[in-house]
Amino acid sequence: MVRLTPLAGLLLSSTLGSASIIRNRQASASIDEAFKSAGKDYFGTCGDQGTLSDDTNAAVVKADFGQLTPENSMKWDSTEPSQGSFTLDGADYLVDFASSNNKLVRGHTLVWHSQLPSWVEGITDKETLTSVMKNHITTLMERYKGKVYAWDVVNEILNEDGSLRSSVFYNVLGEDFVRIAFETAREADPDAKLYINDYNLDSASYAKTKGMVSHVQEWLAQGIPIDGIGSQTHLSAGASSTVKEALSSLAESGVSEVAITELDIAGASDADYVNAATACLEVSKCVGITVWGVSDKDSWRSDTTPLLFDSNFQPKSAYNAILEAL
Ligand code: G3I
Repeated sequence: MVRLTPLAGLLLSSTLGSASIIRNRQASASIDEAFKSAGKDYFGTCGDQGTLSDDTNAAVVKADFGQLTPENSMKWDSTEPSQGSFTLDGADYLVDFASSNNKLVRGHTLVWHSQLPSWVEGITDKETLTSVMKNHITTLMERYKGKVYAWDVVNEILNEDGSLRSSVFYNVLGEDFVRIAFETAREADPDAKLYINDYNLDSASYAKTKGMVSHVQEWLAQGIPIDGIGSQTHLSAGASSTVKEALSSLAESGVSEVAITELDIAGASDADYVNAATACLEVSKCVGITVWGVSDKDSWRSDTTPLLFDSNFQPKSAYNAILEAL
């Protein structure tokens, strides 16, 4: 039998202690703490009951990330599958997990043409659609008042050329659906930050980015209460070099903040992730980054291995490259 001196025993137990911390968080340090130390509000991820009830995933979220977005549980088809009948167990799970682990929540999303139940898509008159939208927005926002820091009030409402996308909301109400959505949201929770969120806003010279900037300028001039623009930032490999300039142009529209809301990058190269993180760091109105999942195995584009943890929840080199860059 090996006898340890008291000092050797102490050293061994403290080594085991730090090893178990590393095992839980998997990584050597919290990317959220590092991002906050650099002056930002959060570095977060998305999840829902399925991923958050996985012990390893939950441990990584608790230790390394500071914010959660529900990946699917707050979408219209999950929350109000039939008119006036709200099913909020999944959303409650996410919000409870976040509250009990001290994570900020970004609510996602209130008005979106996708994952929309057919009973909403079938509405053809203005009065009904207005009251349905108002009821949906108000019910969700009041339930999570004080627990959801920011909401994606409208999601993906632009075409690639910057014009407004065809959807039941636009087709029945015209552009006015934007005003109705934001004014209803402001009234439901005056303290929540209200966002317009979209993808392919990754280059300042792209028509959709320009369209976003000019629409938001116009809507702000009309007094529509938009606080922030979310840039989803689903990138292909090598597409990160224009992200900073794009974020700056979104910030210059006059909103009070911008955020990278669904980051994932095909191949997850160190350079691409460092560019994206640095872009937010260097744009003063950028409040934070949300990556769209923890492990590659749970990503909606898992075939491109786009996240910061591999399928065994090992941190990838991009995770450490961001820590070093910070
Ligand atoms: O819940 C059902 C389940 O009951 C059924 O058995 C199963 C069979 O396919 O489908 C399950 O629903 C899936 C859902 O994810 C939950 O896993 C849907 O089919 C699937 O389409 C859905 O995909 C989500 C996608 O949005 C839908 O548009 C992805 O998880 C989610 O990552 C993705 O997220 C979006 C953002 O909200 C907006 N920006 C783009 C981003 C990526 O597409």
